[in-house]
Amino acid sequence: MTDHRRENRRLWNAWSDDFQALWNADTADGDLPPAPSPFVDDAPGGPQPDVLDSVAGLEYVELGCGGGQASVGTADLGADTVVGVDLSGEQLRHARRLRDFYGVDARFLQGDVTNLPFPDDSFDVASSEVVYQMIEHLGEAFREVRRILRDDGVFVVSVPHPIREMVDLEAETFERSYIGSEAKAHGFSRGMKPT
Ligand SMILES: C[S@@+](CC[C@H](N)C(=O)[O-])C[C@H]1O[C@@H](n2cnc3c(N)ncnc32)[C@H](O)[C@@H]1O
Repeated sequence: MTDHRRENRRLWNAWSDDFQALWNADTADGDLPPAPSPFVDDAPGGPQPDVLDSVAGLEYVELGCGGGQASVGTADLGADTVVGVDLSGEQLRHARRLRDFYGVDARFLQGDVTNLPFPDDSFDVASSEVVYQMIEHLGEAFREVRRILRDDGVFVVSVPHPIREMVDLEAETFERSYIGSEAKAHGFSRGMKPT
């Protein structure tokens, strides 16, 4: 394992409880924590109905599954096989707990998106949310997705836009310039609101 991956795993193991607490911040006592699938109409980041009508009966893998929200949501939608892969054992612990809350069928495995623990042509659908921006060798990661998907497979991927790093979402103001100059950031942020 490269230093980059080892450090990523260490950080995600350390952040996992706080990160999952953010996911679950609005969950009322006794309610199920959120588990949105990317394949529903109100999916975070927008729905994918033009890409895939239904996941029912399909074999699905979530890459960089974290706390398993997309896996569990997609299992709940009727996917036939659901597998989540993540580097971090702590994230996977949360994922298994979420699966057990929902009582759905999903497997969670420790693995690396640049070296996936599956034979060729294993899945019909793959998705990944907020993971590929931190992958050192993107070419390897995309080759792996292609390898494990069948010929007519679907891959839905989302990564954060750099503008996310510039915005204080609570205050609804720009915090700094994309090009990093303090002077510009100050002028840029005054009175501006993201839309
Ligand atoms: C921002 S979290 C997103 C998790 C989940 N997709 C979500 O939307 O909450 C990024 C995840 O990517 C995982 N990750 C980072 N590098 C990875 C790699 N090379 N292979 C597999 N997972 C990785 C981290 O452990 C972490 O769980």
